[in-house]
Amino acid sequence: MDRIRIRGGNKLNGIIPISGAKNAALPLMIASLLTSDTLTLENVPHLADVEQLLRILGNHGVDVSVNGRRERQSESYSRTIHFTCRTVVDTTAPYELVSKMRASFWVIGPLLAREGRAHVSLPGGCAIGTRPVDLFLEGLQALGATMEIEGGYVKATAPKGGLVGGHYTFPKISVGATHVMMMAASLANGTTVIENAAREPEVVDLAKCLNAMGARISGAGTSTITIEGVTSLHGARHRVLPDRIETGTYAMAVAMTGGDVILEGTGAELLDNALDTLRLAGAEITETESGLRVVRNGNGIQPVDVVTEPFPGFPTDLQAQFMALMTRSSGVSHVTETIFENRFMHVQELARLGARISLSGQMARIEGVDRLKGAPVMATDLRASVSLVIAGLAAEGETMVSRVYHLDRGFERLEEKLNRCGAEVERVSD
Ligand code: EPZ
Repeated sequence: MDRIRIRGGNKLNGIIPISGAKNAALPLMIASLLTSDTLTLENVPHLADVEQLLRILGNHGVDVSVNGRRERQSESYSRTIHFTCRTVVDTTAPYELVSKMRASFWVIGPLLAREGRAHVSLPGGCAIGTRPVDLFLEGLQALGATMEIEGGYVKATAPKGGLVGGHYTFPKISVGATHVMMMAASLANGTTVIENAAREPEVVDLAKCLNAMGARISGAGTSTITIEGVTSLHGARHRVLPDRIETGTYAMAVAMTGGDVILEGTGAELLDNALDTLRLAGAEITETESGLRVVRNGNGIQPVDVVTEPFPGFPTDLQAQFMALMTRSSGVSHVTETIFENRFMHVQELARLGARISLSGQMARIEGVDRLKGAPVMATDLRASVSLVIAGLAAEGETMVSRVYHLDRGFERLEEKLNRCGAEVERVSD
């Protein structure tokens, strides 16, 4: 199993190209199940989660052809992928595949809309929380589907003439269930209105792609989304938006080590409130022609309290990284996690590097320390693992992060991107 060795203490200076967003690429890929034409996605990141979803889509009958060449204009290694699902060959998403990646449950929407039925394994819990699927089931029921749960599978069936437009108000905001409702309602008979919808940029990106495929979706990016059903969707070409979590992660890395880095190909609007938080913490962030410039030279790191919230609030997917930054602040800060109930596994690992963090329910209290010292640490989930890398970049001596397969799920060429800016990060294979 690979590990990552970090020699800490170097500032970051240079350019980091930002990849296509994992959390946009996954639902966009799933949207290919909605049409028998070809959906072409540009800027798809090369990540373990993307590879896993390619296998899952293959199982349903999606033909995939990948253009693996490096894009001309940038240093990005993201790819253009063509997806064609002439016919759905299997409406079952088996446990062996769904249990490896939660987002694969989302195939339930397109399968139900196109084929009138879907048999999808329940994803089960995961390291960051129980993550139920009740909102998906209720939402699809509002479109006329019937749901049975049997043997760990959801068996969903559409009415005889197909799904029907409906009205659904989410009792709690869910990104995944918003994606699924938009996909399913696009092929329903009549108009659907979803309220209290997720407003994440990835939801807007999916709506744009679906509209390019012939869907009629308005309001994505606000809490109320209206979808006028159409009888069929066609092929389209769509470019995956830049990864805001990767952007925020590298911005925090620069804030942590000090230095001056251009995050290329990304934009401030994707991060909204999180950039203001970083500014309060002492980073200078400006928009440039090519992306965002993040600088911290001279200033110390200021303590800032954050509470995770759905977009445009501070994202849960940056909580661990921000906590790593706060371990070196000049005072006491608090981080409150409101989205997932068990997303603090990085706390004990950060403590191994000398961080002073105490937990009380969903709130962490972080007392900044003058220095962190390298140590062996273990990655527990995707964002937790990159928080350890950020801490390791600022720690004295060597930090060895094990279980880096978590990192490979969501960060494209992490070592290369950091090393080109002066870090010393090395992958070690046992
Ligand atoms: C998406 O997960 C992201 N994943 C997550 O990123 C991200 O942390 C999360 O949104 C929140 O922003 C992808 O986009 C692939 P939710 P998702 O449904 O859609 C509860 C990463 O590190 N809920 O918005 O699964 C749920 O338990 C990942 O890249 C229900 O109660 O998240 C959570 O408390 C991790 N019932 C809250 O809603 C449901 O039926 C928000 O979850 C569905 C969700």
